[in-house]
Amino acid sequence: MIMYIAANFKSNLTRAQVQAYSQELESYLAHIQAPHLKVSIFPSHTALLANDFAHFQIGAQNAHYAQNGAFTGEITLKQLAEFNICSLIIGHSERRMMFNESQEHINEKFAFYKEAGFSLYYCIGEPLNVRKQGENALKDYLSSQLSGIALDYPKLIIAYEPIWAIGTGVSASMEEIASTHAMLSTLTSAPLLYGGSVNASNAKEILSLKHVHGVLVGSASLELESFKGIIQAGL
Ligand code: 13P
Repeated sequence: MIMYIAANFKSNLTRAQVQAYSQELESYLAHIQAPHLKVSIFPSHTALLANDFAHFQIGAQNAHYAQNGAFTGEITLKQLAEFNICSLIIGHSERRMMFNESQEHINEKFAFYKEAGFSLYYCIGEPLNVRKQGENALKDYLSSQLSGIALDYPKLIIAYEPIWAIGTGVSASMEEIASTHAMLSTLTSAPLLYGGSVNASNAKEILSLKHVHGVLVGSASLELESFKGIIQAGL
């Protein structure tokens, strides 16, 4: 079974830092020889490098759904193609909340980059008030975030990232992850990642849970040593 270990750098790390990180990551992955691991990093746009490393992928955190055109502040397929990039994060809660991305907008993005054959790391996750309302509310909320996307797309990877666990240092409990992933596995056969305060100490236990096929890591991926610890947990 493939295990996905993905790093979302968000708006951190410069191009020079990502270059140094990538070189070291490449030699580390060449050394450990773990073909069942699919490792990806998602740098910010100014730090995108050509996606030509042998042992991991470079993807984009966001892109607009067009070949090119008048979309001030956005990048599009043509710019990504120049870097041979074919992985994209879509629907991250920070984009849904801070940049007001609607489900409709997300659906457009999904359809366009599906057509382009991208691997799509599609994020869903509930706020704390929904989690507190119980199982049915949670299922309704997450289902609504999955509505309008092709759940049978073979290059779809779903990342369940509860908003209340992102950047807090406290991940969801093993029971919460296990039960949510079990529920999601009834809705889709896509690989299911967990994200939200994953680190080198909790990764092994999270990755050992049924229906967890990988992790999407923010803060703990910024230092390569710490990200290596998470990769190690997937060995
Ligand atoms: P943290 O690992 O910093 O909680 O971020 C998770 C995340 O949002 C990854 O996309």
